[in-house]
Amino acid sequence: MVLDRPQPSPTMASDELESYKDRFVRHLSQTVPGRKELVVVEARDCTVKTADGRLFLDFISGISVANVGHSQPEVVEAVHKQMASHAHVNVYGRFVLPTQVEIAERLARVAPGDLDVAYLTSTGTEAIEGALKLARKHTGRKRFVAFERGFHGRTFGALSVSWKPQYRQPFEPLLEGVDFVPFDDLESLDRVVGHDTAAVIVEPIQGEGGVRVPSDGFLRGVREICTDRGALLITDEVQGALGRAGRWFSFELWDIVPDIVVVAKAFGGGLPLGAFVSTPEIFSTFLDPPLSHLTTFGGNPVSCAAAVAAFDIIERDGLLEASARKGAALKRRLESTREQFGDLISDVRGRGLWLAIDLPPDLAMPIVNEMERRGVIVGSMLNSEGTVRIAPPLIVAEAEMDVFVGVLRAALREAATGKLAV
Ligand SMILES: Cc1ncc(COP(=O)(O)O)c(C=O)c1O
Repeated sequence: MVLDRPQPSPTMASDELESYKDRFVRHLSQTVPGRKELVVVEARDCTVKTADGRLFLDFISGISVANVGHSQPEVVEAVHKQMASHAHVNVYGRFVLPTQVEIAERLARVAPGDLDVAYLTSTGTEAIEGALKLARKHTGRKRFVAFERGFHGRTFGALSVSWKPQYRQPFEPLLEGVDFVPFDDLESLDRVVGHDTAAVIVEPIQGEGGVRVPSDGFLRGVREICTDRGALLITDEVQGALGRAGRWFSFELWDIVPDIVVVAKAFGGGLPLGAFVSTPEIFSTFLDPPLSHLTTFGGNPVSCAAAVAAFDIIERDGLLEASARKGAALKRRLESTREQFGDLISDVRGRGLWLAIDLPPDLAMPIVNEMERRGVIVGSMLNSEGTVRIAPPLIVAEAEMDVFVGVLRAALREAATGKLAV
């Protein structure tokens, strides 16, 4: 245990602990084989506490969810209050629910142009489905263009525009008419986007692709090509919004205005909530025929209450600026770690507190595991072998960044001296 704070005492008897691990394997569908060792009992701020009494630093924020920290007290209070008032009352859109209005209005306030309307969902992949449907319906066109290494979710539509063939092929046939082009390559995009393209879907900074930041003219070029061909531009901000890249939306780094923006993850302040956001004109297509799109739980009032609280905390506490500032400081420390371990770290990338390092492909998981053993949670990436994700909550403290860097260096030293099993 590496954290410089009092050690919590064990919180669960060992037979109860082992029983949970057994029942987890027996009753929960596994998508990664093997028994799991960590049983979570609590998560606060930047830490996760397990039932054996260990405390971990969460340097992936539950994969870009806990931007304001885990169980932030004001978010917890908002959830309690809303639950005591009302949770679900009716399928989306039938009654005016004040917390839905509050969060949609906040999104509209920070979104550029006339991106003033939100359709609220429960998850990111569901919001992507809605965005794809909206683009087809509005343009009357069928085709989509997406990017190599891109990731947009696991339901059929979202999977159809997600790149990795291993994840797509077992589930085919998927949506017809999807082309993939290399990320950050405008010439290829220009060749493929046509007058039959409903939308180009892009993560302005690719998340699962390895926190890949495009060159400066890329997003503007994508915008121009879409406008020229009459295709909509969908930006997937599921990982990148709510301060992760130092802005409300990562596309703001390049000063463009998309036609549809998709958010989820950190948007719900820790509860399930997503949205696709667009203009009143584009959304009017969902009125014809009425009930073109519906969801039972999308925009659940309790999730919306958590989202409003999280949104206000980001604004009040200056967490966008904090992400940019702390991210730059953390990146400098990663750069100096790279100088120390040049033969192991081949690249350091990212914006704000959305960072990654590249290691030799067979070393990434051993480093992730060794860091976990030493009390720091980092992770690998779906579409980028050898990349380690580093994305702590935006409230991370200097001292916590010091602990993280110390643990990373210790794990790299173990690797350099051949002590890590590869
Ligand atoms: C960029 C991006 N889009 C969409 C999704 C899907 O979101 P969810 O897991 O909430 O369905 C993810 C999930 O990791 C993502 O990273």
